[in-house]
This record gives sequence, C-alpha cells and structure tokens, in this order.
Amino acid sequence: MKILAIESSCDETAAAVIENGTTILSSVVATSHQMHEKYGGIVPEVAARMQLESIIPTITESMEIFGTSSHTSLYERINDNIDALAITIGPGLIGSLLVGVETAKTIAMATGKPIIPVNHVLAHMYANFVNVKQSDKNNKVTKSEKSQIQFPAISLVVSGGHTELYLMESEKKITWLGGTIDDAAGECFDKTARLLGFGHGGGLAIQNAAMKCGITPYKTTQSPHLPRPMLDKNNELNFSFSGLKTAILRETQKIQSANRWNEEAICALSYEVQEAITDVLVKKTLLAADTYAASSILLSGGVSANFRLREKLQQRIQDAQPSLSLHAPPIELCTDNAVYIGSYAFFRGTPTPWKTINAVPDLSVEEL
Ligand code: KG4
Ligand code: ZN
Repeated sequence: MKILAIESSCDETAAAVIENGTTILSSVVATSHQMHEKYGGIVPEVAARMQLESIIPTITESMEIFGTSSHTSLYERINDNIDALAITIGPGLIGSLLVGVETAKTIAMATGKPIIPVNHVLAHMYANFVNVKQSDKNNKVTKSEKSQIQFPAISLVVSGGHTELYLMESEKKITWLGGTIDDAAGECFDKTARLLGFGHGGGLAIQNAAMKCGITPYKTTQSPHLPRPMLDKNNELNFSFSGLKTAILRETQKIQSANRWNEEAICALSYEVQEAITDVLVKKTLLAADTYAASSILLSGGVSANFRLREKLQQRIQDAQPSLSLHAPPIELCTDNAVYIGSYAFFRGTPTPWKTINAVPDLSVEEL
C-alpha cells in the first residue's frame, strides 16, 4: 500500500511516499528556518505564508522522486500511483496545519482516495519502524526497523514542543505514561542556544559547542553546575524544564558579571546544559522501562538526534539492563518530515471522510 503523507505542523513543509509503512519511496522537506533567524524564533504568520507557497512544489517533488511520469498532471500521478493520503491534523500551529490539511482534503476530494488524519507527536515514534539505509545500519546506536522492535517498548518522544513517555504494547496499542508539566526539552535547548548567541541553531548548536569540551571536561570550581529537575521524585514519569531554563539564565549572568564570558565558558555551559537535559531524559526513560518490564526503548523527535542522549542511553543499558534494545531513527528522520506520518497512518491510522477532517492545534497527546 502506497501512502502519500503530508506534514506542515510547525515551520517545515514535508511530503513523502511510503510503502507498507516501512519503505521510503520519496521524502522532501522544505523549511523556513532561515526566514525565522532574523526574528530569533518561529513567527507563525511567516511560517504559514511560506508553507502556502511551498506545499504544492513539495508534494510535486515527492511524486517526481517516486518516479511517476512528469508528463501527467499532479492529479493524475496521485490518482494512478497512490492508495491513500495521510495528513498531520495536530498538534501544531493553526495557520501551518491549515495549509497541509486543506491541501490534503482537496486532493482527497478530487481523487476520491482515502485520507487518514495523523497525530504528529504519536507519529514521531513510527520513524523507528522505517527501513534504514545500509550506512545507517553500521552505526551501532542507530538500529531501527520494525522487524527488530520487540514489545513491550518504552517510547520517548522528545522534540521542540513535546517531551512524552509512552508504553507501546504493540504497533497499535499505545498508553501515555507521562510528559513535561511545562517546557519541552527541545525548547530548553532552543532557548539556551539563543541565550548563548547561537541564534536559531537549537540543540544541534549546543551539541556542537559541547563537543568542543571533549567527553568529560576537566572540572574546576568555576565549572557551571545545573540542576537535574524532577529526578528526586523517582516514582514519577513527568518532566519539567522551565526551572532549568531559569538556572541557565542565572549561570550565564554569573559568568558574564565575573568577566569570564569567552568561548571556553560558552562551551562548558553548553556541555553542562546537554548533560543536565540528557541525564533527566535517560533516568526517566530507564525508570519507565524498568517499571513496565520493557524489551525495547524507542527514541524519536528532534532531540533524539542528540549524540550524547543516544550515547548515554546506550552506555547505561549496556551497564545495567543489557537485555533492553535501543532504537533510534537515522538523524534525518528525527526532525520533522512526512515519512513517519505515512508510517503511522499505515500501522495505526483510520481512513476518515475528508469532510470531517479538521486542523486541531491542541490535539491531545495523552488521551489516545
Ligand atoms: O521534532 P522536531 O523537528 O520538531 C517538533 O516537532 O518540535 O524537533 C525540533 C527540536 C528543536 O528543539 C531542536 O533544537 C531539537 O529538536 N534538536 C536537537 C538536535 N537536533 C535537533 N536537540 C538536541 N540535539 C540535537 N542534535
Ligand atoms: Zn515534530
């Protein structure tokens, strides 16, 4: 079954064709990151306007890569080669969601193809179900693919807007276990990046700066130290990152007022921020795995691209729970794209009359 999936929940516009939920036939992602750089964050109106311009070219390109004849119209190509459509309906920015949802509904109406509404946050975890390229298989931390995943699995979805833990008992049965009570881990990375002068570079910029420090930097009395929020409440599977954001701001002010603000100090602070966030994510994920006697852990969402998060989890599993297997998508499938939207639709979606499909910006990620 070939699904044309469309995603436009934040500032990306993406389209992909995916077969039987696991084989990528094409994947195209257009982003308006550069437009937001000058404003220091995503401007919803700017994002939606760019998406309006790029949605049809993105869908067209995804159908061209997939190999359908360029002599026919987009309508004919979809009609002749696609079995169903998948569309992200939320959660996300209303203007952005509307662009994707209304486009997908129009295609469904014109072609008569079934259309499957998709929850963006839940869909992230299905990036682990997709067949990976040989080059990705050589990376020992990245070992995804549906055939390798054993249930029950604990799934950590960690992105710019969400930090959620789920129990996955099968490819369909998902239970929400906990999530952030305030900010997401990705937001903490993003705000820190801006504070440290990395602009819109986000978690990747922090990761790169932290790497300059080496794996375990030499600690001095001046080394920054940040809290690991909610770790003391060991029996809880919730997260909180807003206090950490404030602590990072205070640490920054302390270093600046002591006239120690230089590249070395910025790298040391980046390292500590990454350690604080990943310590919390790793501890809670392993606690959930222990509590629910999980066989696998699935990472997904933009922050799951973080090298240190992957490395730390892998290390702890090797030391303490070697029977657990860790799965993380290839880096390009961690951040927003349409591949996992199509995979979710195949494994867990329900075709729905196009007239009843609407964008739902505050779509629940807890009541499934
Ligand atoms: O899943 P995603 O593309 O969008 C949302 O659904 O939110 O995630 C974006 C988030 C941003 O917060 C970005 O800073 C973070 O993923 N991110 C990273 C890394 N790459 C992207 N965070 C930490 N380390 C990375 N290497
Ligand atoms: Zn996302």
